[in-house]
Amino acid sequence: MNLLEELKDAAAAPHGQARSLPFAAYCDEGLFNTEMTRLFHDDWVFVCAAREIVAPGDYYALRLGAEPVVILRGADGQVRALSNVCRHRGTQLLDDGFGRIDKLIVCPYHAWAYDDFGGLRATPFAKEIAVDRDSHCLPGFAVHEWLGLLFVHLGEKPTPFSERLAGIERYLAVFTASAFDASSSGPIKVWDANWKLIMENAMESYHLFKVHTRTLEAITPTRDAYYVAGNSEWTVSGGKTVSDKSWLGERTKSSYPEVYDQYLLVSIPPSFVGVLGSDSFAWVSAHPIDATTTVVRSGGITSDLRSFEDSDSRAFTEAFFAEDKDICERVQRSMGATRTQGGQLVDMERIVVDFHRYLANRLFDTPALPTYEGVRAELFLRTDPL
Ligand code: FES
Ligand SMILES: [Fe+2]
Repeated sequence: MNLLEELKDAAAAPHGQARSLPFAAYCDEGLFNTEMTRLFHDDWVFVCAAREIVAPGDYYALRLGAEPVVILRGADGQVRALSNVCRHRGTQLLDDGFGRIDKLIVCPYHAWAYDDFGGLRATPFAKEIAVDRDSHCLPGFAVHEWLGLLFVHLGEKPTPFSERLAGIERYLAVFTASAFDASSSGPIKVWDANWKLIMENAMESYHLFKVHTRTLEAITPTRDAYYVAGNSEWTVSGGKTVSDKSWLGERTKSSYPEVYDQYLLVSIPPSFVGVLGSDSFAWVSAHPIDATTTVVRSGGITSDLRSFEDSDSRAFTEAFFAEDKDICERVQRSMGATRTQGGQLVDMERIVVDFHRYLANRLFDTPALPTYEGVRAELFLRTDPL
């Protein structure tokens, strides 16, 4: 069997029979290019929080697959996603990351300048051969804001966003994320690992007890993690936030009803995994560079910015991200192995199976997986929001 046939078999396997994907799927450049075309160029992809680009001119620039994109708040207060590629000779316009423009986007090569709608406004020294401005605008892409998070779709005919996440909101409503009015942007790092490996690691709670023994396991232990509901488009799992003798454990102890001692882990492939609780929605995003390199960024929205951003919280987040980076890069180093193959996924990895079914659906047109609801889902459905 070639890689694509093997991958199709592995990714379409149902829960109970599912195995780890073929290792070559985590380093093959041909497959990577197909994934960029079929997933990152043709699905709703998380980019940043709306509150990370608050003032007119604020932007976040990144690559979605092969496409340099900038998401920008215009002078009119609206958020737009534009191609970040100059229409003259193709220079990347704005540097990747966060920044602010002063009215115009000016190309660093010959200073062609664009407004915040992508309209071409200036072409220095173009006198005898005039440049037709209308045919040299920056193309725009669809943007949707959901619970304060911004998603971009590069495709010609985006699926309506409401269809993409149909059914998810009822499980999240108890945590009122749309009222979290502050945001925090974590560091932008490059990990030497395939984006799927990073997504799988971010979404499953199976590894907490081993990889995060002294960090996450102390407050969100593996033994108290469970599946809530999901399908091939999104998955919500959950867990109990426990109190222990650690400073963070003490601080997270709450006197709310049971549901507010839980957290929800929200996975929206291809790029978003977030942890939603009663006062914050913290996420990690994965934006691939090539088959074995990925831009990884953390951030969050919260109703309590001070405690979210204090030095202890930052040190804690940094510590467990370092643990995740180490383990992902360690796995990646074995992905060239040919004399062995991936093993059985266990019960706690049902969320990974959902992700594999997403891949099967997008890459091989395997039918989408209907929603499965776990027994703990009820807890989130019957509690009224605070
Ligand atoms: S490439 Fe941008 S102005 Fe020439
Ligand atoms: Fe982890």
